[in-house]
Amino acid sequence: MIKRLKDMNDRQQEFIANASHELKTPLTRIVSSLEIIDFTKQSKREIELIKSDVFYIDDLLDKLLVLTKLKDANNGNSPLRLIKMETVFSRINKMFKQKLEDKKIKLTTSYPQTLVIAMPVQYLEIIVSNILSNSIKYSAAGKTIAITVKKDQNNSVMEIVDQGIGMSQEETRQMFDRFYRSKRSRESGHGIGLSIVKEICDIYKVAVKVDSELGKGTIVTLTFKNHTT
Ligand SMILES: Nc1ncnc2c1ncn2[C@@H]1O[C@H](COP(=O)(O)OP(=O)(O)OP(=O)(O)O)[C@@H](O)[C@H]1O
Ligand SMILES: [Mg+2]
Repeated sequence: MIKRLKDMNDRQQEFIANASHELKTPLTRIVSSLEIIDFTKQSKREIELIKSDVFYIDDLLDKLLVLTKLKDANNGNSPLRLIKMETVFSRINKMFKQKLEDKKIKLTTSYPQTLVIAMPVQYLEIIVSNILSNSIKYSAAGKTIAITVKKDQNNSVMEIVDQGIGMSQEETRQMFDRFYRSKRSRESGHGIGLSIVKEICDIYKVAVKVDSELGKGTIVTLTFKNHTT
């Protein structure tokens, strides 16, 4: 018991140290940019840099907040909810509209009207948005991403399919680890998104599976047990 508490404490310390380090770099850059900006001339480059660093920190803080809230999440005894899928996907579409347009990526969706799941809708949205944000990030311009949700007798299955850079077996094994980012990742990110997905899926007993092939793309499959109201 004491050893378990110590391990937990060590992990928390390591996590806080990593997170602080992640926040320190962009903050230092913001401060040094602010020191050299001539506000009368409005240095465009420095202002763009500050903006992107502020977005980076804001995104990291949002993710850290989700992680701290998850610690208190209901352990598997969550009540059933009737989820209107149109509402979920209209929010997701809105969230990613700009990114999809910027990269000229086409997103297709196909889903039943409703799902009955034992998970708060905001967690479903966190899962889908983290997986989709990766698909967009790791796809070249002009590609297509397809999300399908199908119900069969026992399960509801959601698939997120991209035609992106894909992952090796080694990368696929590590992708859910907190702070893991492939060495090939050139896009901005914290390596936290998928560890949040995994944690939520574990708490709410959703099976998550990844099939990926280098240079071809990635399929993430989420399997929810069917419930009836
Ligand atoms: N669809 C994908 N295609 C290719 N590589 C992927 C895909 N999804 C995840 N990866 C790899 O797994 C790593 C971990 O993903 P994760 O979402 O946890 O972190 P991230 O996207 O780098 O940062 P963030 O915390 O901002 O989400 C990524 O850095 C990338 O190397
Ligand atoms: Mg991500």
